[in-house]
Amino acid sequence: MTIKEYVAARKAEIKEYVSGLEVKPHLVIVQVNEDQASNAYVKGKLKDCTELGINGELIKLPIDTSEEELLKLINSLNHDNDVDAFIVQMPLPKQINEEKIKQAVSPKKDVDGFHPLSDLNPCTPQGIIDYLHAEGIQMQGKNALVIGRSNIVGKPMAKLLLKENCNVTTVHSKTTPEDMAFYINHADIIVIAIGKQHFLDNKYTYKKDAVIVDVGISRDENGLHGDAVPDLPVRLQTPVPGGVGLLTRLSLIENLLKIYKTKYNIN
Ligand code: GUN
Repeated sequence: MTIKEYVAARKAEIKEYVSGLEVKPHLVIVQVNEDQASNAYVKGKLKDCTELGINGELIKLPIDTSEEELLKLINSLNHDNDVDAFIVQMPLPKQINEEKIKQAVSPKKDVDGFHPLSDLNPCTPQGIIDYLHAEGIQMQGKNALVIGRSNIVGKPMAKLLLKENCNVTTVHSKTTPEDMAFYINHADIIVIAIGKQHFLDNKYTYKKDAVIVDVGISRDENGLHGDAVPDLPVRLQTPVPGGVGLLTRLSLIENLLKIYKTKYNIN
């Protein structure tokens, strides 16, 4: 099953479910940047909402918005009973402290799962775990390698793989090339999220049954590229584009439904 097929099948179920709801879930996206990648994510998220019958709303603020103004908006969204959940799209301009913003969002409405007290997990790592389950990938006791240690992907990914009983290693920009090659060679599951085009290539040796999840996305004159060259000699490799981006978007909707069901006491 390709990721496109997997996502389409789950979206069809969600669409059916939402069509039976009298009060439609209401998601607000707050964007305070003019970042190209963010524009693409936001556009995709709003498109998903429209397609699924969800009330998706974009609040776009100017790039010179102060931290105080953004905190004020977050406070009003936290208290607006008509808004089920919201996200503040990252990155934020430099005058705004991202950690402060993440902690200001009520854990009850934190569809990104960024708040330390949130019951939900960040969308990209959760979407990847859900997909690996759907593909029947055995995780227990396997060697999982996370390349990259960002707050949005690398760190929560390592935590979720550990919860699946993997043996988890995280490597990063300070890992020596020799160690990098060693860990890649021993990995059953590799999740790479460093934003370095084609970092994983044929100079490394892979287990033939390995699974590579490519979170990277970078653009040049030839189009979009992942952190891995396509068609490495492994069991399964997620494509770019048409891979993890779709899983993240699906996971956002899944998190929204979890919040909605908790709010309205639906099992
Ligand atoms: N920027 C890149 N990925 C994400 C995400 O999952 N959520 C938010 N809010 N911003 C992002």
